[in-house]
Amino acid sequence: MQKQRLGVNIDHVATVRNARGSVWPDPLRAALLAEAAGADGITAHLREDRRHIRDADMEALKAGIGIPLNFECAATAEMQAIVLRLRPHAVCLVPERREERTTEGGLDVAGDEARLRDYLVPLREAGCRVSMFIGHDARQIEASARIGAAVVELHTGHYSDLHAEGRAAEADAELAALRAGATLAASLGLEVHAGHGLTYENVAPVAAIPEVQELNIGHFLIGEAIYLGLGPAIEEMRRRMDAARA
Ligand code: PXP
Repeated sequence: MQKQRLGVNIDHVATVRNARGSVWPDPLRAALLAEAAGADGITAHLREDRRHIRDADMEALKAGIGIPLNFECAATAEMQAIVLRLRPHAVCLVPERREERTTEGGLDVAGDEARLRDYLVPLREAGCRVSMFIGHDARQIEASARIGAAVVELHTGHYSDLHAEGRAAEADAELAALRAGATLAASLGLEVHAGHGLTYENVAPVAAIPEVQELNIGHFLIGEAIYLGLGPAIEEMRRRMDAARA
C-alpha cells in the first residue's frame, strides 16, 4: 500500500503561547522539530478570531519550513487575500463558528456550491492544492468533485468521539462510512485525506483505509509531546500509521 503522509497540526503550540501572551513556545520551532521527526507537512489554521495561529505565524511557517504548508481557513474574502499573498502548498477550507472549541462539522459544499466554485478558482490559479474538509456523505463528496477541488479531507471527529466513549459498534459503522466515502472520493479523482481527533489508540483503522493518502493530526500530538517530546511523539504516530498499512 502507498505510504501515507502525516501532516502535523501545530495550532495548539500557539494556544499555549497565547495563554501567557508571550512569545514561547514558538510554533515555527515546533514545525521544524516535526519536520526533523519525519512529518510530511505542517498544517496550521488561521481562524477569524486568531485564537491560536496568527498572521505572523503563517508567514514564519511559509518562510521557515522545508515541507509543504497546509493553510487551513474558512472560505472568507479576508482569508482568500492572505492565501493569495502567501501562496502555501495547500489550502484546506473548513467551516468556522466563533463559539466552537474546534472544527465541529464538515463544510457544507453542496449547500454553497456556486460560491465555493468561484472562491477556489484564484487559489487554484495561484498553484495551491485546494482541499474541502467534509463529512463522509456522498452529497458533499460529489459536490467537492464538481467544484474542482483537488482533495477532500474526511472529518474523523465523530468516529474519534465514538471510539473514546467505548461505543464500538457505532464506531465501526462510522468507519465503514468513512471507508465508503474514501472509495467514492477516489473514484471521482479526488485525493483523500482524513483527520480530527486521531490518537495512538484510534488511528490504525483510519490509517489502514487504502485511499487515504494523508492524515492531519494535531491536538493529541501536542499533548503527547508534554510527556515524550514532540519528535518522539510524532515518530510513534508514524510507526503506528505504517504498521496499520503494512
Ligand atoms: N484536519 C482539520 C481540517 C482540522 O480542522 C483539524 C483541527 O484543527 C485537524 C485536522 C486536526 O485535528 P486534531 O487537532 O483533533 O488532531
